[in-house]
Amino acid sequence: MSQQPLWTTEALARAMGGRLVGAPAATVTDLSIDTRTLAAGEAYVAIKGHAHDGHAFVQAALDKGAAVAVVSQEWAQAAPPGAYLVVADPLKALEKAGTVARSRTAAKILAVTGSIGKTSTKEALAHVLSREGRTHAPPKSFNNHIGVPLTLSRMPAGSQFGVFEIGMNHAGEITPLTRMVKPDIAVITNIEAVHIENLGTIEAIADAKAEIFAGVEHGGAAVLPRDSRHFERLARAARAAGIETIVSFGEHEEADVRLLRVVLAADCSTVYARVMETDVTYKLGSPGRHLAMNSLAVLAAAKLAGADLAVAALTLGETRAVAGRGERTQRRLASGSFTLLDESYNA
Ligand SMILES: Nc1ncnc2c1ncn2[C@@H]1O[C@H](COP(=O)(O)OP(=O)(O)OP(=O)(O)O)[C@@H](O)[C@H]1O
Ligand SMILES: [Mg+2]
Repeated sequence: MSQQPLWTTEALARAMGGRLVGAPAATVTDLSIDTRTLAAGEAYVAIKGHAHDGHAFVQAALDKGAAVAVVSQEWAQAAPPGAYLVVADPLKALEKAGTVARSRTAAKILAVTGSIGKTSTKEALAHVLSREGRTHAPPKSFNNHIGVPLTLSRMPAGSQFGVFEIGMNHAGEITPLTRMVKPDIAVITNIEAVHIENLGTIEAIADAKAEIFAGVEHGGAAVLPRDSRHFERLARAARAAGIETIVSFGEHEEADVRLLRVVLAADCSTVYARVMETDVTYKLGSPGRHLAMNSLAVLAAAKLAGADLAVAALTLGETRAVAGRGERTQRRLASGSFTLLDESYNA
C-alpha cells in the first residue's frame, strides 16, 4: 500500500521558505522538536525555548535518523556537514509550514479554548470524531505559540477532522494562533479566574478567550458556555466577528445543548441531555459533573462538524480521563484495595 508522505522534503522546504543542504531524505514522516521522542524519518525542528536552544540537539537528531534538521541560517554558518533545511528562523518556519498544512487540507477544523477543561474536551472530541473519519489532534496540551504551529504542520493533508487546543497566559496570545488554525468551529469551555494575575479582571479573561473568534472561517460556528455569566459577552464578540451560528451548552433552560440530569456514580456518570431538540442518554466512562459539562460541548461541536449524534454519544461512553486529570484506578494491597484518583497534572 502506498501511503502519501506527510511532507516531501522539497514541499516542506518550500512551505518553510528554506534551502536544503546536504542529502536529506526525500520524505518526512512527522515533525519533532524533541530528540527524546524523535523517530527515524522525522524532521527535527531546532526551536529556541526558555531553557534550551534546540540547535544543541541537532547532531543527536541526525544520529537518531532524522530525515532533515530545520536550522537557522545563523547556526548553519558554522555547522558540521549534515542534512539541513536552512531557514531564517525555525519557529517562523514552523508557523509557515502550519499555514500551508492548513490551506492544503479539506478537513473540518475545530479549536478548543477556555479557562479549564481544554485538554479533556479536545481529547473527547478527537475520540468521538475519529469514529467518523481520519482525525488529527495533538498529544497533551500543545496549545501555545510552539504547540499550535507544530500540531498544524503535523496534520496529514488527507485528514477529515483536525482538533486543536489553544491556550493563553496573556491577552493577545490567542489571536495569532486562531488565525493560523482557522477553525470552522470554535469552542469555549468556560471562563474562570485562571491567569487573572496577568489579565486583571474576569471580563478581560473572557475577552482574551473571545479572541478565538478572530480566526473562525466564514460560515463557521461558536460553541459557548450558557451557564457562564459571561455568555452574553462571548456571544456578542462572536457575532461581532461575523459568526452567525452560535450553539450554547449548559444547564440553563435556553441552552441549545442542555443538561437535563446527570447521575453520578463512583466510576462513571449517566447524562441525560437535549441536543438541539434530540434527547440523548449516555454514559461517561469517568465520573464528575465537570466532565458531563464538557461532554455537552463535545456533542455540540461534533454535531456541528457533521458527526452522527447517536454514535457520538455512544463513543463518549468509551472515553477515560486523561492521565493525571481525574484518572481513577483500583490499586490492590495485601491488606485490601483502594481507589487512586490521579489529579497530579500541574501539581
Ligand atoms: N469543565 C471543567 N470544570 C472544572 N474542572 C474541569 C473541567 N474539565 C476538566 N476539569 C478538570 O480540570 C483539570 C484540568 O483539565 P484540562 O487539562 O482538561 O484543562 P486545560 O484547560 O487543558 O488546562 P491547561 O491550561 O493546563 O492546558 C483536570 O483535573 C480536569 O479533571
Ligand atoms: Mg490543556
